[in-house]
Amino acid sequence: MIKVLNIVGARPNFMKIAPIFREMKQRADEFEPLIVHTGQHYDEKMSDAFFVDLGMPRPDIHLEVGSASHAVQTAKIMLAFEPVVLEQKPDWVVVVGDVNSTIACSLVCAKLGIKVAHVEAGLRSYDREMPEEINRILTDSISDLLLTPSPDGDENLKKEGIAENKIKLVGNVMIDSLFHNLEIAAKSNIRQELHLEGDYASMTLHRPSNVDSKDAFEPLIDALIDIAERIPIVFPAHPRTESKIREFGLEEKIGQSEIKLIEPLGYLDFLQLMSGSKLVLTDSGGLQEETTALSIPCLTLRKNTERPITVEMGTNRLVGVDPEAVRKAAFEILDGGFDASKAKIPPLWDGKTAKRICNALIQASTKR
Ligand code: UD1
Repeated sequence: MIKVLNIVGARPNFMKIAPIFREMKQRADEFEPLIVHTGQHYDEKMSDAFFVDLGMPRPDIHLEVGSASHAVQTAKIMLAFEPVVLEQKPDWVVVVGDVNSTIACSLVCAKLGIKVAHVEAGLRSYDREMPEEINRILTDSISDLLLTPSPDGDENLKKEGIAENKIKLVGNVMIDSLFHNLEIAAKSNIRQELHLEGDYASMTLHRPSNVDSKDAFEPLIDALIDIAERIPIVFPAHPRTESKIREFGLEEKIGQSEIKLIEPLGYLDFLQLMSGSKLVLTDSGGLQEETTALSIPCLTLRKNTERPITVEMGTNRLVGVDPEAVRKAAFEILDGGFDASKAKIPPLWDGKTAKRICNALIQASTKR
């Protein structure tokens, strides 16, 4: 029997841990899984709603750290997590993605000699200005089992000198959640609630590089307002983005446009919104993957991506942050210049990744 602490902290973690936890619960003779929530995200809409939508039980342990600067947040998670590890004595700790909770919990375990499995290992944007890139590199360098979503992840890790026997290509666990919940999400009334009768686009934006300065954010909003003249854009805004919109006095401009600014949506509502979109505009990591799995054209408003397979094989296009380029790329798609049917879903993005993750954990445990 393997005792596992599964770590969640921020919004993009919940849909990755849910299928892993479910699989572990089903294999009760092999796994004793617990959920630890660091409390990095704490709003009802950024956290609690996801537990309900994903059918996850309340976390077994809640560290309640909340928001702070990166150093303070990371340190607070470490301080709160160390006694949990000492008390619980897990065989493995499973961390996912690239948020501050991921590196904080991995680092605690590495020092205590507790095995860490990193799900979504090996992704690299090669942009160290992104806090997430630092979290990815550091977490991978101290994890014992590196579970990758795509072959580029394996290549990146090998280049960094990580032993091949620690790396296992398992596929994309976020797509397990996507496929599991598509039918359930179809019952959501979100499209009716937002009065979306014809074609529409969906958008998320929250990367500090896009929204934290007015000089970067306002020209992007101007371009998006132009695009919204052609197709209404639904924009569920992250709390960070929402507060910057207010700080920079952009509410009026947005309010008068065809951009529908709304609060963050739960998982199922967002899935239903996204799956009906003609086009998705984003700077998030997960949406690049979900749109590829759903064959929906996606424009990524960033200079780089740690998920290049979505561009090479899928429906994602990296457009950068030049407002003119964003406008042009969106108009091209709206004019029918993008054939999503040529795109493919990457191998092992098949809804069975959680199973492979559990198998890899068992295998790595018996090797010891
Ligand atoms: C974090 C992740 C990012 C991920 C994003 C998804 C890191 C370094 N970044 O960024 O990779 O894409 O989550 O949402 O871990 N806030 C709230 N309510 C909340 C959470 C945050 O109001 O529930 C506000 C806080 O005031 C805070 C700001 O949002 O100042 C940023 O939160 P934080 O957790 O530091 O990072 P995110 O930008 O959410």
